[in-house]
Amino acid sequence: GRGVAVVTAVASRLALQRRQLEETLAPFRLHSQQLKAVQAQMRESMVRGLRGESSSIRMLPTYVCAMPDGTERGDFLALDLGGTNFRVLWVKVGSRSEEGIKIINRVFSLPESVTQGTGQQLFDHIVDCIVDFQKENNLSGQTLPLSFTFSFPCKQLGLDQGILLNWTKGFKASDCEGQDVVSLLRAAIRRRQGVELNVVAIVNDTVGTMMSCGYEDPHCEVGLIVGTGTNACYMEELGNVCAVPGDRGRMCINMEWGAFGDDGLALQEFYTPFDLSVDQASINPGKQRYEKLISGMYLGEIVRQVLLHLTHLRVLFGGQEFPSLQTKDIIKTKFLSEIESDLERWQVRAILEKLDLQADCEDALLVREVCQAVSRRAAQLCGAGVAAVVEKIRENRGLDRLSVTVGVDGTLYKLHPHFSEQVKDAVRELAPQCCVRFLLSEDGSGKGAALVSAVACRLAGAAGP
Ligand code: GLC
Repeated sequence: GRGVAVVTAVASRLALQRRQLEETLAPFRLHSQQLKAVQAQMRESMVRGLRGESSSIRMLPTYVCAMPDGTERGDFLALDLGGTNFRVLWVKVGSRSEEGIKIINRVFSLPESVTQGTGQQLFDHIVDCIVDFQKENNLSGQTLPLSFTFSFPCKQLGLDQGILLNWTKGFKASDCEGQDVVSLLRAAIRRRQGVELNVVAIVNDTVGTMMSCGYEDPHCEVGLIVGTGTNACYMEELGNVCAVPGDRGRMCINMEWGAFGDDGLALQEFYTPFDLSVDQASINPGKQRYEKLISGMYLGEIVRQVLLHLTHLRVLFGGQEFPSLQTKDIIKTKFLSEIESDLERWQVRAILEKLDLQADCEDALLVREVCQAVSRRAAQLCGAGVAAVVEKIRENRGLDRLSVTVGVDGTLYKLHPHFSEQVKDAVRELAPQCCVRFLLSEDGSGKGAALVSAVACRLAGAAGP
């Protein structure tokens, strides 16, 4: 009688919830045809960018034309701006077989007042940090060659010249866009008298990553970052790079693929209402649209939007609207990584509790499913991009099969329990003629950036008298 009726009512309520969850997550589940289309569009945008035709992907020349060969030696300074922290590093490059590369570095915090203040404040702050670092390490007075890892889109006219095209990620310091970043740094050095620096190279983090892995593996010709932001670089035939004269040899191209889709010609169909809200609430609406589907700075926000929606539907938390869920950026990449690891339900609940979300077991499972759907889509879209890149390299060389290594860095790729495997699966499926090895980079922004200067110094020496 009544018992049966209650059981049926509960069962049908659960069935309804399930259906609503599935409906909500369906647009996140991409099938191969869609991924193939992304790959093809990426490929087309690459070619247009290289030719200087209108394209959402800029395909920027980096003036890095050679990989380390192991004979590089010397001490270098490196700066790393554009990730989670700002760092100053002292990199000692010794013989590959004996001392190897040694790094001493210090992390400096970058308050929002600096990343979103004036350019002058930002660069003065950077120089202050360098001076502190030099004092601590007895480096004052020495002018070591300096590599500046500056992980934003820059139009380079040489190795040591880069015009910031626009800020990305959380940065917004005024009066920098359109300026040569090395000049801004040199001006700050002049303002702070008594300091001398020898800026040799400006390096994107993807390039540093490729170089640091190239030191170990000569097949490494692609650099990939999936962290706060996402981007890739690879070795392109110089003849295909219209912005640079010459047609022999290769040059590393910083793709700035995070902007893929900004022209509205790709990815449009994948943007869910949740993605649109995240984009609208960001400091650069309409920009970096591929990055906003993939990288660590945005995934937690997408998840939060989905959870809010499911709460409104009363599928989650019994419809209770927790204030913490209204807080922007409360869900960090680390949260996704934790919640998707192999945990018991109570552990998932404990994680949610830390965010002031009181979840029952059912809620905990649903939240995890949401995270899985969002991060899986990210990994697959990223894989489609990598597939486009390696296929381009293969075709450039007229090969039936290509073996290539991708150097990778970034917190999402490195710390998430499934992300890297899902990227690899997608690449395997989408680029079956390429055998792709993914090599984790160890401090590409420090070690790799120093190697850019080291290679430049080696080549300058070889060309000298
Ligand atoms: C953003 C930047 C790009 C960088 C990437 C990863 O997309 O524009 O230059 O490589 O983040 O840090």
